[in-house]
Amino acid sequence: MKINVMKGNIQETTADTLIVNLFEGVTTPGGATGAVDKALGGAISEMIASGDLSGKSGEVGVVYPRGAIPARRVLVVGLGKSDGFDLEGVRKSAAAAARKARDLSARHVATVVHGAGVGGLPPAEAAQATVEGTLLGLYRFVEFKTEEQKGEIESLTVVEVDANRVAEVEVGARLAEMVVAGVSLARDLVNLPPNYATPTRMAETAQEIARAYGMGLTVGDRQWAAQHKMGAFLAVSKGAVEEPKFIILEHNGGRTDLDTIVLVGKGITFDSGGISIKPSERMEDMKSDMAGAAAVLSTMKVVGMLNLPLRVIGITPCTENMPDGTAYHPADIITASNGKTIEIISTDAEGRMILADALVYAGRYQPMAVIDLATLTGACVVALGANMAAGLFCTQDALRDKLMTSSQATFERLWPMPLWDDYKQKIKSKVADMKNSGGRNGGVASSAIFLKEFTDYPWAHLDIAGMALAEKDDAYILAGGTGYGVRLLVHFLRNWK
Ligand code: BES
Ligand code: MN
Ligand code: ZN
Repeated sequence: MKINVMKGNIQETTADTLIVNLFEGVTTPGGATGAVDKALGGAISEMIASGDLSGKSGEVGVVYPRGAIPARRVLVVGLGKSDGFDLEGVRKSAAAAARKARDLSARHVATVVHGAGVGGLPPAEAAQATVEGTLLGLYRFVEFKTEEQKGEIESLTVVEVDANRVAEVEVGARLAEMVVAGVSLARDLVNLPPNYATPTRMAETAQEIARAYGMGLTVGDRQWAAQHKMGAFLAVSKGAVEEPKFIILEHNGGRTDLDTIVLVGKGITFDSGGISIKPSERMEDMKSDMAGAAAVLSTMKVVGMLNLPLRVIGITPCTENMPDGTAYHPADIITASNGKTIEIISTDAEGRMILADALVYAGRYQPMAVIDLATLTGACVVALGANMAAGLFCTQDALRDKLMTSSQATFERLWPMPLWDDYKQKIKSKVADMKNSGGRNGGVASSAIFLKEFTDYPWAHLDIAGMALAEKDDAYILAGGTGYGVRLLVHFLRNWK
């Protein structure tokens, strides 16, 4: 969709569909909504007076101007209560209005920036949220639908009446476009079925990003991983016929003068559990076990688009976890690339295995921070709930604070979890340095303490098990892959200094 930014009065624009807004409890609309209301002879205030329009969050009223202005329809989206209205409210309202517009077969849509007027939000951020909400709310995964879908909106024009704000609105809108390109890629990769989203497909995606933005790329296969003594990564991939790919993307790879951040993403393209096989109920959800890798590759794309002045490295170990005659067994003892030995209790605790070698590899870059994203434990979903927050484990207060700030700004929620050394007892092994499962109780923390064994730098671990998939549509997050983490990481990297 083409995004335009324009200075002007929205009621005068030639779009077929206008989007204005209304706070709950307002009886006489002001600002752009007031201007449209006036041009329509008070049609909007009349709808409010008759109780047909309340301004409740998510509500979308439709008004037909019938020639009074160039547009064929005006959508009035509810913003909810003005008290406590924030950027998340902007994103939700924009998404509700955009979906209604598409349902009505709108082709050219003009919208105000939600929340920048009476709402008092900074224009650039409000514009970014308006465009993000719009585009994310319109996301669809239709690659495998053979019947015709409702047509797409062709253009969105963001109309700003105040000349002093247009430049900021433009900045916010352009940033939103880039962020959404990343989130949409992450959603696509998660939504792609495991027979398409193979490790090879992940590597192809990385290659497209490397080419487009001039990044360094390494794609390691089994032989490469063996040369790097990545026994933990290789153990998981043993049972898979699909070739595993250990992917490394480097943005400004040679620039050791820049601050270095490494992003690591779990890329299990299908988690059957392996020999410790999962029950078949909802096993199909395990196509999303590469959501961490999807978020990292997609964030790298946005890093490239923004050409951020940082050295950013994206590492995504990708493989299937499958049962087979060649698969690794419970009781196997595996040696990771740092020489530590791991007793396998469950082959279904595979995420920490592939991350172990990836975290060791991250150390080569002497990073200021390493952040890993992983759909690591069902225990995290039990603790925090699905689609509520990712569990955040962090070894450095400053890093944790930065991540929490980005979490609040993007509403990609994180919740702090403990990394107490006492959890180490849970993964003590009689025969090896550690075992790969600490049992049911405290399963989210014992997985994190396992990973910590492979780090020697400021590190944050995000357990995104509950965040990768949504069961139903909710404002700008649609059923299926959520793209969780991309907006968070982009905000974090943009605000690193
Ligand atoms: N990929 C799963 C975790 C998961 C569960 C993600 C539900 C999303 C939704 C992971 O590999 C796994 O199987 N974890 C086990 C660990 C256990 C064997 C120690 C789990 O959580 O049961
Ligand atoms: Mn598993
Ligand atoms: Zn898994």
